[in-house]
Amino acid sequence: MRSNRRSHAVFAVICTLLCATVAYLAAEPAAAGAAANQAAAARIATPPPPATAQAQPAAAEFAGDDTCTACHESEGHSLSASLHGKAANGRTPSAKPNQACETCHGPGKEHAESGDKTKIRVFPAMAPHEASAVCLSCHNRGNHAGWEGSGHERRDLTCSTCHSVHSPKSAERQLVQPTETKLCATCHRLQVSKTERAVAHMPVREGKMSCSSCHNPHGSISNVKNLKTGSSVAELCTSCHTEMRGPVLFEHAPVRENCATCHDPHGSSNDRMLVVRMPMLCQRCHIASKHPATLYDKDQITTNKSNRMFGRSCVNCHSNIHGSNHPSGQFFMR
Ligand code: HEC
Ligand code: HEC
Ligand code: HEC
Ligand code: HEC
Ligand code: HEC
Ligand code: HEC
Ligand code: HEC
Ligand code: HEC
Ligand code: HEC
Ligand code: HEC
Repeated sequence: MRSNRRSHAVFAVICTLLCATVAYLAAEPAAAGAAANQAAAARIATPPPPATAQAQPAAAEFAGDDTCTACHESEGHSLSASLHGKAANGRTPSAKPNQACETCHGPGKEHAESGDKTKIRVFPAMAPHEASAVCLSCHNRGNHAGWEGSGHERRDLTCSTCHSVHSPKSAERQLVQPTETKLCATCHRLQVSKTERAVAHMPVREGKMSCSSCHNPHGSISNVKNLKTGSSVAELCTSCHTEMRGPVLFEHAPVRENCATCHDPHGSSNDRMLVVRMPMLCQRCHIASKHPATLYDKDQITTNKSNRMFGRSCVNCHSNIHGSNHPSGQFFMR
């Protein structure tokens, strides 16, 4: 399964790289581009993606930024105010002399002459994967390599679902909402509201962490659920909680397997973000131990006032619940 996912991802990366090259070459002015295009076609056996091919009329010509901004002044300003407008960075759209707008919107001479909307790329009107392809022609490496096949891509989100090139609302990363949490909350209300639970949560609502401390909204090539570090939930958690990484002499099986068996990563109404209260948490698995489950029913609290029910319950004694390095720590008591 995993190696399948991996090879799929690698394949996707290679595809995007190829597409990027083809798209870039296709966008070159006809004269300079033609020769390069042929050479590229000879080297690259893959046909260009229908996405970019369709969006560009056959013999499209460029109008130039000055022409575009003559009619669309405010977009000219908003572009220069963003990182995309920093021509000094050779990888930005603005680095191409007089072709910033058309790097994204496609050659627009026809549109500039007619004002006809159908003769230019209007992002909200494009199919999601075609719109993303334009951005991916530059943003296809590093953090973005996992986009193809990610949960968000599969469900037809596109880059501009979350980002705005011309009218961002956030101070950073050009998001369509003032903060990242607000952005995610438009679709993931449940997870966001858990971070607001009173008893236990990681410092997300305090702003010391964010959803993207753990998730990469652009997908992950190595982990489940868009997790950005490691290749399992436990590896993600122990990237910060290093004291739980191990190895230990006596492992507690569920800890190795998945921290989320006992903790809700987003927050909970129980101490320490536990998914259920103690001692029920332990009793979900340990029902027939030397401490029969019946010892810990409600009578123990109300009638017998068992000392085993107070404070931290089972972990009063089994305090090294994440594993023990003590020679006689097999019961996680030291
Ligand atoms: C002569 C003026 C003029 C020039 C030059 C011009 N446009 Fe336009 N553009 C318009 C008009 C008018 C509309 C609105 C058409 C409509 O609403 O039907 C428009 C619409 C658009 C839209 C869609 C906006 C929307 O609301 O959906 C985009 C994108 C766009 N232009 C980009 C460009 C780019 C890029 C250039 C340069 C290549 C450019 N325009 C040059 C007049 C111009
Ligand atoms: C990095 C890619 C990119 C560049 C460069 C770019 N645009 Fe856009 N443009 C977009 C996207 C994406 C949208 C959809 C709305 C948004 O994201 O803000 C858009 C929307 C528009 C619109 C529709 C109005 C709106 O805000 O929805 C116009 C008009 C426009 N762009 C003109 C221009 C002009 C003129 C330039 C050059 C000065 C330019 N764009 C450069 C990506 C780009
Ligand atoms: C021609 C290449 C190119 C294209 C096409 C392009 N970008 Fe970028 N983008 C860049 C570069 C270069 C930066 C500067 C940051 C960097 O070096 O990574 C950047 C930065 C960004 C940032 C970070 C902004 C910040 O303030 O941190 C976002 C978000 C972004 N781009 C989104 C998009 C989206 C959405 C599209 C498609 C509509 C797009 N880009 C198309 C080259 C491109
Ligand atoms: C579900 C929302 C969402 C979608 C969809 C999305 N992004 Fe982002 N993007 C974010 C958030 C949140 C951040 C800031 C946190 C981070 O860096 O991971 C970000 C950061 C970025 C950055 C700057 C940091 C970096 O990694 O270089 C770029 C560039 C970017 N996105 C481009 C894109 C492109 C291109 C697409 C489409 C293929 C896209 N994004 C789709 C939410 C999204
Ligand atoms: C426009 C709606 C939308 C926004 C905004 C959005 N998501 Fe999602 N997200 C989805 C959809 C749809 C899915 C797929 C659910 C499914 O397939 O079960 C998803 C899936 C996920 C998953 C699970 C991925 C998996 O492989 O199962 C995570 C994690 C996630 N989103 C995190 C985020 C984060 C973090 C943000 C904010 C940066 C965000 N999302 C913003 C719609 C959104
Ligand atoms: C401390 C790390 C961490 C933080 C911070 C975090 N998540 Fe998660 N998230 C996880 C883990 C781990 C999972 C997988 C849980 C599992 O498999 O039971 C997950 C799962 C998800 C899922 C998929 C749920 C499902 O059932 O498939 C969504 C959606 C999600 N998170 C959204 C968010 C949003 C939105 C935020 C910000 C408010 C956020 N997460 C913050 C670690 C985190
Ligand atoms: C990006 C770093 C980071 C990651 C990844 C991370 N945590 Fe945390 N965690 C923190 C921080 C910071 C705190 C708050 C510590 C403090 O207040 O002393 C915390 C606190 C906790 C707490 C104590 C909460 C309380 O109320 O006492 C638990 C339990 C926890 N994390 C479990 C997890 C689990 C399970 C995962 C994996 C799903 C995880 N953490 C991933 C940074 C992280
Ligand atoms: C078998 C259930 C279980 C599993 C699995 C589990 N924990 Fe815990 N965890 C607990 C309990 C119970 C506590 C409360 C301990 C206490 O009150 O002393 C706790 C407390 C914590 C704390 C709070 C600090 C502390 O030492 O008390 C952190 C952080 C934490 N766990 C992280 C993790 C990480 C990371 C993983 C995965 C590697 C994990 N836990 C797996 C049951 C579990
Ligand atoms: C998801 C199931 C699960 C949960 C929840 C769980 N455990 Fe375990 N626990 C196990 C497994 C499996 C073993 C290994 C049993 C074995 O090796 O025979 C184990 C081993 C132990 C052992 C060592 C006993 C032995 O026979 O090796 C102790 C003590 C223990 N758990 C206490 C706890 C406590 C206390 C809690 C609650 C904080 C807890 N467990 C929660 C599954 C769980
Ligand atoms: C007052 C201290 C104390 C409390 C509280 C306690 N235990 Fe124990 N537990 C022990 C001792 C001592 C042993 C070792 C017994 C032995 O040496 O055979 C043990 C052994 C175990 C074992 C492994 C042996 C077996 O019978 O399989 C499990 C599992 C276990 N406890 C689970 C729990 C759970 C679950 C709770 C909470 C419901 C709990 N314990 C509460 C002291 C305690």
